[in-house]
Amino acid sequence: MDKLLVRGGSTLKGSVHISGSKNASLPILAATLLTEEPCIIRRVPDVSDTNYMIQILAALGAEVERSSGTVRITAGTISHNAPYEIVRKMRASICVMGPLLARLHKASVSLPGGCIIGDRPVDLHLKGLEAIGAVINMEGGNMMIDAPDGLHGKEVDLRGKHGPTVLGTDNLMMAAVLTEGTTIIESAACEPEVVDLANFLIKMGAQIEGAGTRRIKIQGVKKLHGTEHTVTPDRIEAGTFMVAAAMTGCPEHGVTLHRVCQKDLVPTTEKLTESGHHVQFNEAGNSCTVKPGDSPQGANIITAPFPGFPTDMQAQFTALFAITPGISVVEDTIFPQRFMHCAEMTRMGAHIKVDNGTAVIQGSDSMSAAPVMASDLRASAALVLAALCAEGTTEINRLYHIDRGYENIDDKLVMLGADIERVRE
Ligand code: EPZ
Repeated sequence: MDKLLVRGGSTLKGSVHISGSKNASLPILAATLLTEEPCIIRRVPDVSDTNYMIQILAALGAEVERSSGTVRITAGTISHNAPYEIVRKMRASICVMGPLLARLHKASVSLPGGCIIGDRPVDLHLKGLEAIGAVINMEGGNMMIDAPDGLHGKEVDLRGKHGPTVLGTDNLMMAAVLTEGTTIIESAACEPEVVDLANFLIKMGAQIEGAGTRRIKIQGVKKLHGTEHTVTPDRIEAGTFMVAAAMTGCPEHGVTLHRVCQKDLVPTTEKLTESGHHVQFNEAGNSCTVKPGDSPQGANIITAPFPGFPTDMQAQFTALFAITPGISVVEDTIFPQRFMHCAEMTRMGAHIKVDNGTAVIQGSDSMSAAPVMASDLRASAALVLAALCAEGTTEINRLYHIDRGYENIDDKLVMLGADIERVRE
């Protein structure tokens, strides 16, 4: 397993190009199953999660060609049976359910495993699909789905105890686009990645109104056609680099990020500004420069569904607050167990107390290197950020967690001046 050696103390400067969104790419790749015509998707990040999705599409019978960030998919004749050995590796595989149900009125997808950030129930996915006519039975760890009486548009409320569901909204939207009648999704997720999927489906000929709001209306059509699409920029990768710049950026020149989307970065921008750092977007809102403030201060975060503060950014801010004077409080209302990174940062000298879905962070003057263990995707990125500010060389193991969702993060940081070495083992 690869590991990273991060020598702290470098100052970051220069510019970096942000990749296409992993979390938009995954449902959009799945949505190509909805037509037998070719689809071309651009700026698909080369990370293990998108590679798993591509493997699943190929295993279902789709023809897939990938050249760097462009993927061409033709789902001519496809099977309804998603392969367990790949599906079990990635929870987001669940978003092939909706397209398979819509196209074949049949699907077999294994139950996704839990993961380190908390149990990952699928009850809302099932509620949505059953509402339009799916019959779902569990057999040997697989969800066996069919539609004996066909599929019919319905109004469904997808709110769960932690709020809306992103992939649950995606699944129902993808099932509904070929379902006769009108489907209304109440309490829909509004994340930019859901909007990007809706835009892709509309280009395929789907009739969708209200994506980006809590109420999405889908009028079913008979068929969808192939199309081309460029995936929206990854707002979480961008946020991660913005925090890196606030932690170790050059105060004079800062770090510039290209290919970002200002309207998707409002919570991150506001929190960095509140903590005393400087974020400046260009006129077009597709590039920004971040400079560390000269008197940063702690802040409080409560994660919430978009447009609230994203749960996928709380670990990165915890790393920032660990070296920011004062007390900061981070509460994750979406994944209350998502604090594995705190114990690892404590090994590096951070002062963090975690209790009942909340981390209280007392900023310290410095952190010191220690061997640490990556756990989930965003926690691992947060450990890299902490290591950039730690005295000495931090060894970050189980790098596959980072490689799931960050395209060449070490190369990008080295280009900005970080002292990082990937050791292949
Ligand atoms: C998406 O996961 C993202 N993944 C996650 O990013 C992100 O953290 C999450 O949305 C929340 O924003 C992708 O888009 C591939 P949810 P998703 O369904 O859709 C509960 C990353 O780091 N829930 O919106 O699986 C659930 O337990 C990943 O890139 C149910 O109760 O998350 C959670 O508490 C990590 N029943 C809340 O809803 C369900 O049927 C939100 O989960 C489904 C979810």
